[in-house]
Amino acid sequence: MLEKIEKIRLEAEQEDLSTPEHLASFRIRFLGSKGVIKGLYQEFKSVNPDEKREIGAALNQLKQAVEDRLVLLETPKKELKKFTKTEDYSKPAVTRTTGSLHPLSMITQEIVAIFEKIGFISSEGPEIEDDWHNFSALNFPPDHPARDMQDTFFLDDPFASFSLRTHTSSVQVRVMESSTLPIRTLSPGRVYRNEAISARAHCFFHQIEGLYIDQHVTLADLKQTLEYFAKCFFGSSVKIRLRPSYFPFTEPSAEVDVSCTLCSGSGCSICKHSGWLEILGCGMVDPNVLEDCGIDSKTYSGFAFGMGVERIAQLKYRVNDLRLYSENDLRFLDQFHL
Ligand code: PHE
Repeated sequence: MLEKIEKIRLEAEQEDLSTPEHLASFRIRFLGSKGVIKGLYQEFKSVNPDEKREIGAALNQLKQAVEDRLVLLETPKKELKKFTKTEDYSKPAVTRTTGSLHPLSMITQEIVAIFEKIGFISSEGPEIEDDWHNFSALNFPPDHPARDMQDTFFLDDPFASFSLRTHTSSVQVRVMESSTLPIRTLSPGRVYRNEAISARAHCFFHQIEGLYIDQHVTLADLKQTLEYFAKCFFGSSVKIRLRPSYFPFTEPSAEVDVSCTLCSGSGCSICKHSGWLEILGCGMVDPNVLEDCGIDSKTYSGFAFGMGVERIAQLKYRVNDLRLYSENDLRFLDQFHL
């Protein structure tokens, strides 16, 4: 029987398997249920027990060799079929999109970095504020319009003395109350005002407010600091001007304009032909505010400023509708990929 197995092994080795038809008939002939190898295993049953070991091994080897040959020849075709069904390697690659920073976050980070270079440290505070931190400590008179429901979102009873903060000056009160002097702090954050939503106004927006308190701080320091910021942010050729204004917590107070970044001051539609763009409010901290926060106003003085991030972003990116910042429309947001 050994010779017979050897003969079949040679036959199987030499069989022409160049076409799929040949392969199919080879498989049936050798491995089919009525095939040669099945027949040999039948025959094997009646082999002498003392020959069984040797003949069994030869038979297993034959079966393995036949199977190996088939696997070798059939696999690539099978694999190829599988690939052509599911994958097309000539297709353009799928683009994977990555997230990016929101334009307001980008502007905030840029502004914070400019002030960090001259020693300002960021501080945070709660968005729901009590009357003291949002209004009273900041010298708001009891009948100030900002204390009106029409301008401020107050919480319902029993928390009616709390409101959504209307500015991040509230954070600066907290810093003044809890820090050692001198103070150089920057408070970025979201603020809320009771406004009808339109292209030019929203019920929430973002601010960055700054506060510097030390001995001998003057209006000249304030102007110098703001000029430094404006030149870093808008470019070295930019000019600033201060216009007198009013805030309850600063005296004197001013509004700050930069020369129009589009027309460099000659007048265009962006600056409404004035040559100037308003960017922030500022002033010398009112001594009452310092005293309310436990700071000796005879020894210390300070300046404060506050700007709207949306306003600055609008000037930088020429976005003319405030609503775009909070609509999560990817057609808008995708334009700010770095
Ligand atoms: N808190 C003011 C506002 O929200 C801005 C400001 C800050 C003005 C500091 C002067 C000084 O409009």
